[in-house]
Amino acid sequence: MIRKAVFPAAGFGTRFLPATKASPKEMLPLVDKPLIQHGVEEACAAGVRDMIIVNGRGKYAIEDHFDISYELESLLRKKGEDAQLAAMRAITDMADFFYVRQNLPLGLGHAVLRAMDLVGEEPFAVVLSDDVIDSKVPVLRQLIDVYERYSADSVLAIERVPREQVSRYGIIKWKKIAEGVYEVLDMVEKPKPAKAPSDLAIIGRYILSPAIFPALAETRPGAGGEIQLTDAMRSLVARERVLGYEFEGVRYDAGNKLGFLMANIAFALKDPELGPGLRAFLAKERKK
Ligand code: UTP
Repeated sequence: MIRKAVFPAAGFGTRFLPATKASPKEMLPLVDKPLIQHGVEEACAAGVRDMIIVNGRGKYAIEDHFDISYELESLLRKKGEDAQLAAMRAITDMADFFYVRQNLPLGLGHAVLRAMDLVGEEPFAVVLSDDVIDSKVPVLRQLIDVYERYSADSVLAIERVPREQVSRYGIIKWKKIAEGVYEVLDMVEKPKPAKAPSDLAIIGRYILSPAIFPALAETRPGAGGEIQLTDAMRSLVARERVLGYEFEGVRYDAGNKLGFLMANIAFALKDPELGPGLRAFLAKERKK
């Protein structure tokens, strides 16, 4: 059973400045919901109940979003907006939320290590909300199914990427064990294309064994001077069964402006209210 999910949300989001100067990247909207709410909804749909959010600057925006807003609720009640009132309360009621602070963004690995006391001695999920994935089955659910079916200790979401882009990702060295399922033999963070062990990249969804915490505590700064989750996971590979799973779904890297815009357009086109108007607008733009 995976009961807890960790949401690192303490990065500076420099690729989104100035939008992220005072507000976390995870609060940027995907159509009408913050990225992090999409991530929390995915975790809920996968059966996870405890959401552990690693906060940095601008933390109140995230905490307030998942908290009850009495003023807003009273206003909506007065106006008779019952559907909106229920939708606002559902955001708070869908899970239990826990917060821990990462004072300095020393890296993704460091952010996950901050959640150690809240996670305890059990396997858990990690969700990077800026990797937006449109899939039939929530990606975390797909990973949990693989985790259970193959009695794995950890399962990483992976995706094939163009060779020239491998230096943006953690890249695995693998042995195939079934269609879409790979045993991870080794991994390297942000390799040069010539040095990459493959073109299979780690994407922002993970099921991790609690053995990651002592490994993280021993991990020294790596690529970019940051404490890298990949470096700590690498040390688990020799001791535990770490699998990679090529998930079903389309991923958008909403951590950069172009990927964020593409995610918004793709999700809005599928929205019954917004889709027709947006499609007509895009067709008009194409003719210009
Ligand atoms: P990114 O690599 O996208 O970094 O982090 P970033 O700082 O958010 O963005 P840029 O590169 O400056 O534009 C991936 C995820 O890890 C979190 C981020 O919030 C994001 O969800 N993170 C990263 C932390 O929580 N702490 C860190 O020290 C670094």
